[in-house]
Amino acid sequence: MLNLILLGPPGAGKGTQAVKLKDKYNIPHISTGDIFRKNIKEGTELGKKAKEYMDKGELVPDEVVIGIAIARLREGDCGGGFLLDGFPRTVHQADELSRHFEDTGGKIDLVIDIVVGKDELVRRLSGRRVCKSCGATYHVTGMPSKVDGVCDECGGELFQRTDDTEETVSNRIEVYNQQTKPLVEYYEKKGNIVHIDGTTGLENVFSDITKSIEA
Ligand code: AP5
Ligand code: MG
Ligand code: ZN
Repeated sequence: MLNLILLGPPGAGKGTQAVKLKDKYNIPHISTGDIFRKNIKEGTELGKKAKEYMDKGELVPDEVVIGIAIARLREGDCGGGFLLDGFPRTVHQADELSRHFEDTGGKIDLVIDIVVGKDELVRRLSGRRVCKSCGATYHVTGMPSKVDGVCDECGGELFQRTDDTEETVSNRIEVYNQQTKPLVEYYEKKGNIVHIDGTTGLENVFSDITKSIEA
């Protein structure tokens, strides 16, 4: 049983590390951002609602996100553990998550806070490309795919997220600082958080995270 949370600003590398961690520990990767993007693609009511906020770089309201995240955690594949990416993102979300564990008797084993400075975040997000089919993440200069626009893993088409424009990126970082960063202190008080330097290269970051999990 391994219950993990990936915390960190937009572009810190949460999604990139999550793909490696879910394979290593064989636990489901739960990204609220991915759930919303899937709903947008399918044109659902939830997708329409989420898109209004995501395109501006604002958070989707707590009353929408919390129910979805908790419902996902109740699914059978989370019985052996899970990796949350991008949830919780507000103190209220974190309180509701704790309440869920009070009800079910589980706990968060480790909160992994990936630390990266603002200039690097902007550089990463403005060059990010994502695979339409499998979700693998690339960077046009930092981590390019072998063939331009084509996923190395599955041959799928690469695209740029609509919230990776310069203006939206700045707002997402601002929103992170105001609404999500307080969670660092929140989990410090609980004593189950580690801080990982997110700028040491993909494999080093991964190795630092796995060492913390296994410590
Ligand atoms: P979400 O999808 O969660 O996006 P985010 O938090 O903004 O984070 P990103 O996915 O942009 O960054 P990441 O840390 O995953 O970085 P990545 O690995 O891709 O949320 C999107 C929106 O949905 C929110 O704005 C909000 O509206 C809504 N939402 C979602 N959850 C919500 C919630 N709980 N409450 C309310 N609203 C919610 O990497 C980025 C780039 O860097 C890539 O190009 C990658 O190749 C590169 N890179 C990664 N690692 C490294 C490295 N070590 N060295 C160099 N480059 C690297
Ligand atoms: Mg992500
Ligand atoms: Zn792919």
